[in-house]
Amino acid sequence: MTITEPFPTARLADEDVRVLLLENIHTDGADFLRGKGFQVETRDGALGEDELIEAIQGVHLLGIRSTTYVTEKVLDAAPDLLAIGAFCIGTNQIDLAAATARGVAVFNAPYSNTRSVVELAIAEIISLARRLHEKSTDMHNGVWNKSAAGSHEIRGRTLGIIGYGNIGSQLSVIAEALGLSVVFYDIDDKLALGNAKRCSTLEELLAVADVVTLHVDGRPGNAGLFGDDEMSQMKPRSLFLNLSRGIAVDTAALRKHLESGHIAGAAVDVFPIEPKRQGDQFDSDLRGLKNVILTPHVGGSTEEAQQDIGRFVASKLRSYAAFGGTSLSVNMPGINLPADLDKHRLALVHRNAPGVLARINAVLGEHGVNLEAQSLSTRGEIGYVLTDVAEEVGPEVLAELAALPETVRLRQLS
Ligand SMILES: NC(=O)c1ccc[n+]([C@@H]2O[C@H](COP(=O)([O-])OP(=O)(O)OC[C@H]3O[C@@H](n4cnc5c(N)ncnc54)[C@H](O)[C@@H]3O)[C@@H](O)[C@H]2O)c1
Repeated sequence: MTITEPFPTARLADEDVRVLLLENIHTDGADFLRGKGFQVETRDGALGEDELIEAIQGVHLLGIRSTTYVTEKVLDAAPDLLAIGAFCIGTNQIDLAAATARGVAVFNAPYSNTRSVVELAIAEIISLARRLHEKSTDMHNGVWNKSAAGSHEIRGRTLGIIGYGNIGSQLSVIAEALGLSVVFYDIDDKLALGNAKRCSTLEELLAVADVVTLHVDGRPGNAGLFGDDEMSQMKPRSLFLNLSRGIAVDTAALRKHLESGHIAGAAVDVFPIEPKRQGDQFDSDLRGLKNVILTPHVGGSTEEAQQDIGRFVASKLRSYAAFGGTSLSVNMPGINLPADLDKHRLALVHRNAPGVLARINAVLGEHGVNLEAQSLSTRGEIGYVLTDVAEEVGPEVLAELAALPETVRLRQLS
């Protein structure tokens, strides 16, 4: 871990906080931050490394989406940077280890689009059960095929949810409200919501589910999670959905089971290889099949989700800049002392080593600084301490704290 010095320890007034928001982040994000008195600059597109280095000078809070890469070189060129907001779910575009080593907090929006995914899944389950996609394609081709054959209500059917996290568990509640029975399988111990029944094995779920839907995360072990074996264990004429990760499903096996009719229909939103840019060619084993709904990874893409992401990440950036709050940070230990700024607050990011807190408090004690509240949290190699004190501490105290060998970054707030 490297330590970046010197770093500014002086108090930063709200009107001096400079924010740069790239990539068309929802305007609610900029409005929120301006409303808190911050100086906000917005730009439509993503920036390459050199452009970003130029643009980031003097910037305290950076907002990006998925196309701007925040590399170690960028971080080295941005000594004022306090935090990065990824106004999306993923944070692969940020060198998290380098950000952490420099005490730069990273935030994202892990929950803002979960409802959008759930609503699409519900819409697709009904669409597949009623063969809407097939009927609509027929109509566009001039074919009038008014028939109830192969169309079903979903009421009374069993929905099998694999992965009962934020999305899977929300889907469970809404599916029950629509009259489906829900069974789920998760590798973690998850509390069953409503009348949902937990299955202890995937096989148990596959034996009873009329609709199987994947909502697992992207951990490496989930590559190839659902292949020929698992599909063979599904009930004949059942339905299959994947709105989670493309790598989890063997699409060639899925095609085989769809062609044989063992699986009656499928909806797939995520693919092992996805086109990088708008308008790029899309190739998949699943193209050209009847009763298969293909969507271009839009499960979480709604205007509501974008708006929620804009507000959510902006409020995290503001809370960190103003109060030192790190709750739900991707890389910093989570602490949220109440935002009582009648007190003066010190925020110190440090290397996680034995005795750091004692050394911090020894410095404060030697200078007669009275502690009103203190909270320490650690995460791997990094630690974070928020200390509320009755009176503003002087520059000599800040200098001594900054000079502690473990200190990565120190700020005085309020
Ligand atoms: N299609 C889209 O646009 C879109 C949008 C948002 C999220 N997603 C994806 O949806 C998925 C679920 O998101 P989430 O927010 O609910 O994630 P989450 O982390 O809250 O939940 C994932 C759940 O899957 C479980 N799990 C992991 N591996 C498993 C396995 N092999 N078998 C059974 N359970 C397993 C975990 O224990 C966890 O409970 C993620 O992969 C996410 O990337 C897609």
